[in-house]
Amino acid sequence: MKTVLITGANKSIGFEAARQLLQQGYFVYLGSRHLQKGWEAAGKLKAEGLNNVEAIQIDVSNAKSIASARKELGKKLQSLDVLINNAGIRGAVPQTASTVNIDVIREVFDTNFFGVIEVTQTFLDLLKNSDAPRIVNVTSGLASLTLHSDPKWKYYSVKGAAYGPSKSALNAYTVVLAYEFRNTKFKVNAVDPGYTATDFNDHRGTGSVEDAAKRIVRYVTIGEDGPTGVFFSDDNNPETGVSPW
Ligand SMILES: NC(=O)c1ccc[n+]([C@@H]2O[C@H](COP(=O)([O-])OP(=O)(O)OC[C@H]3O[C@@H](n4cnc5c(N)ncnc54)[C@H](OP(=O)(O)O)[C@@H]3O)[C@@H](O)[C@H]2O)c1
Repeated sequence: MKTVLITGANKSIGFEAARQLLQQGYFVYLGSRHLQKGWEAAGKLKAEGLNNVEAIQIDVSNAKSIASARKELGKKLQSLDVLINNAGIRGAVPQTASTVNIDVIREVFDTNFFGVIEVTQTFLDLLKNSDAPRIVNVTSGLASLTLHSDPKWKYYSVKGAAYGPSKSALNAYTVVLAYEFRNTKFKVNAVDPGYTATDFNDHRGTGSVEDAAKRIVRYVTIGEDGPTGVFFSDDNNPETGVSPW
């Protein structure tokens, strides 16, 4: 049975990705920074008959928590097939470039960028033991610097100095990680779930968590001929699903 660790999976898009992967026969380690919330989320899935799920405490902005999650998983597994770096925060708004509090930028980068790198590095040894390791970094359409330079883009005016840049940095990390593993069995991609109604945006998003999670699951389940080092966004390019960086 394939195994997957999803960070920030106690609710919203991460939770729905857990559900869809359980339905496809994966064993899901449901990451949650508060274990109680993780237990509750796992309980909901079990109540639906999706039993191959276990909550695991992991705060991606806390090195000790990441290390103990690795230790915990190491007791249960020799190898991990999939890592979904989903946990993310927007940070306090507005994030006006000339006035944003530097602490807001640091907080957002701690979770969305440094957190992803630390989690990835910590679980790499287990992923390397998989026959077909997959890493999906959950990014945002707002990460595209190319589109941010195009006045005709629908999100052209949605500019902030913390959240978007943290995801652009995450994309850059995705490129270099995919490059490092280009001749291996790894597939490493950045996937935008789309503008989705969740707590993240006070449910102003226009898409559903089902569609958002489907986009993530699509790149979890790619085969050995599948892409690596690509920024996928249906929102930024409905025709090809590939976004410019
Ligand atoms: N919703 C959108 O429109 C949209 C669009 C593009 C990209 N995204 C990205 O999609 C991902 C999921 O977003 P969402 O809409 O599902 O957001 P959400 O409803 O706010 O849920 C975020 C999840 O991440 C967790 N989290 C936050 N900080 C964490 C940390 N330090 N350690 C571990 N978990 C942490 C939250 O845990 P708690 O419950 O404990 O807070 C929650 O489980 C994010 O990376 C976001 O940037 C979302």
